[in-house]
Amino acid sequence: MHTGTTLTQFIIEEQRRIPGATGDFTGLLNDIVTACKAISNAVNKGALVGIMGALESQNVQGEVQKKLDVISNDIMIRSNEWAGHLAGMASEELDEPYAIPDKYPLGKYLLLFDPLDGSSNVDVNISVGSIFSILRAPRPNRPAVVEDFLQPGTQQVCAGYALYGSSTMLVLTLGHGVNGFTLDREVGEFILTHPNMTIPADTKEFAINASNRRFWEPPVQRYVEECLAGKEGPRGKDFNMRWVASMVAEVHRILTRGGIFMYPRDTKDPSKPGKLRLMYEANPMAMIVEQAGGAASTGYERILDIQPESLHQRVPVILGSRNEVEVVVGYHQN
Ligand code: AHG
Ligand code: MN
Ligand code: MN
Repeated sequence: MHTGTTLTQFIIEEQRRIPGATGDFTGLLNDIVTACKAISNAVNKGALVGIMGALESQNVQGEVQKKLDVISNDIMIRSNEWAGHLAGMASEELDEPYAIPDKYPLGKYLLLFDPLDGSSNVDVNISVGSIFSILRAPRPNRPAVVEDFLQPGTQQVCAGYALYGSSTMLVLTLGHGVNGFTLDREVGEFILTHPNMTIPADTKEFAINASNRRFWEPPVQRYVEECLAGKEGPRGKDFNMRWVASMVAEVHRILTRGGIFMYPRDTKDPSKPGKLRLMYEANPMAMIVEQAGGAASTGYERILDIQPESLHQRVPVILGSRNEVEVVVGYHQN
């Protein structure tokens, strides 16, 4: 029988350290956690309940929506709209921010999320996840407008992800360190299993979608060539490579054993400066990675410092083991 610290207990104890905390934030996190448990269940049942495959629709980014993208989005919204903690929500799957229905009270936080990350992996039974970011509403208790969400990542109050892998985990930062919890399905609670997660500063493992190679900019071309050259090359060591195509799974691997993940700027579609979205993918992951001692950059600037211009803005992402990210950033400066 597991009697570790539950996530509920962890959140309440964290809140006790903040003088004047009202319990609003604790309530909000609990609702997010409930949503992640429900999404975990849906992902887990998969084909048994007929929720695999794609819909005819596309989301605002012009991407094919999977049935589970839409189901996960609905779960996130239904779990978080009612309690009065939020002034608004924004999701990868929704063009505009979600307006809290009039019948519910408004609150002082904003929630942004990617309800199902890596969803191209759902049909092939490979890990997917959910990513979320919490900001303070600049105008508390008023319906949020797009501009309210456009705050740099440094303003995040909390960032986290749920990983629906061989076990379901929730990894969280409230701005002082990173902690990982594993879902005990029989108890129905996340249990603290990975306290104080840290990313080793050095690594020999990189992750990038190499099929885009011909579109990369010279600094990334150079970096990957040097990794591939191994012991005999300028880096003087052999590298290993991974690509899961679920950012949540890649970041989790990096938090566990180090590594570098790149979805860099490329010339494939000049209208897109990267693939990943700043507000609900890059920013929360950058906060988690930095809080674990790693680094997160576009190659040109720190991700958390970017002043967002639009809700679904895309950015290049290079994150992970600090010294390795510094190498790539150095090549961008040359
Ligand atoms: P999403 O499923 O939310 O659209 O995000 C998928 C993202 C990210 O998780 C992953 O690293 C990347 O897209 C994979 O892209 P490729 O298919 O180009 O490899
Ligand atoms: Mn995603
Ligand atoms: Mn998604």
